[in-house]
Amino acid sequence: MNIITIDGPSGSGKGTVCHILADKLGWNLLDSGALYRILAYVALQKNIDLDNEQKLATLAINLEVAFISNGTGVDTLLEGENVGDKLRTEIVAEATSKVASIQIVRDALLERQKAFYQLPGLIADGRDMGTIVFPDATVKVFLDASAEERAERRFNQLQNKGFDVSIAQILSEIKDRDDRDRNRTVAPLRPAEDAIEIDSTSLTIDEVVSQVIDLVKLKFDLVVK
Ligand code: DC
Repeated sequence: MNIITIDGPSGSGKGTVCHILADKLGWNLLDSGALYRILAYVALQKNIDLDNEQKLATLAINLEVAFISNGTGVDTLLEGENVGDKLRTEIVAEATSKVASIQIVRDALLERQKAFYQLPGLIADGRDMGTIVFPDATVKVFLDASAEERAERRFNQLQNKGFDVSIAQILSEIKDRDDRDRNRTVAPLRPAEDAIEIDSTSLTIDEVVSQVIDLVKLKFDLVVK
């Protein structure tokens, strides 16, 4: 299938790499983390108990969400309202990690994620894209980086946005969330058996993109911009 899956932890550079690839290839993009984040955001808004699995799964089935390309990126619309910025807070990230560990929530979002596949192809960004959602993808990448490097990237991002943050605090949050994502029983973060692993700790985004493009050229008969 014309699908490239890029899985890995937050801060590995996945999101940026996926956007660049989708642009270069003219393929559709699935940001699966955004789906989980929207669900957590709505649950917080509606004061739904994060332990109420059935209620969360019903919410997941009924989410009215759309991803619309705006020329420079993608707007995330919840019932027509652009909520992109609201999904990136620590509170939402924390709640997302919890709702994403519930099996019936993941089941409820499965078909919605599969429906993103359309020709000419799909770039799928997440944690279980290569293992569960698109096991038949032609190219699977697992992008990682050391926790320290990922904390530093997040620290720089937040500082640039004017937030007064501590790198030690960010590192500890990243390690906690990693631990939960990698060790959960449901769809744990791990490379698919046939994934190519790339460690981006000392690579630039362009270097990562170029490694993935080399893989794409090997596997698909494509001209890449
Ligand atoms: O990629 P992200 O940082 O936006 O992901 C947010 C959270 O959602 C993170 O805790 C991992 C979880 N997630 C997941 O469990 N499965 C996915 N396919 C994508 C994200």
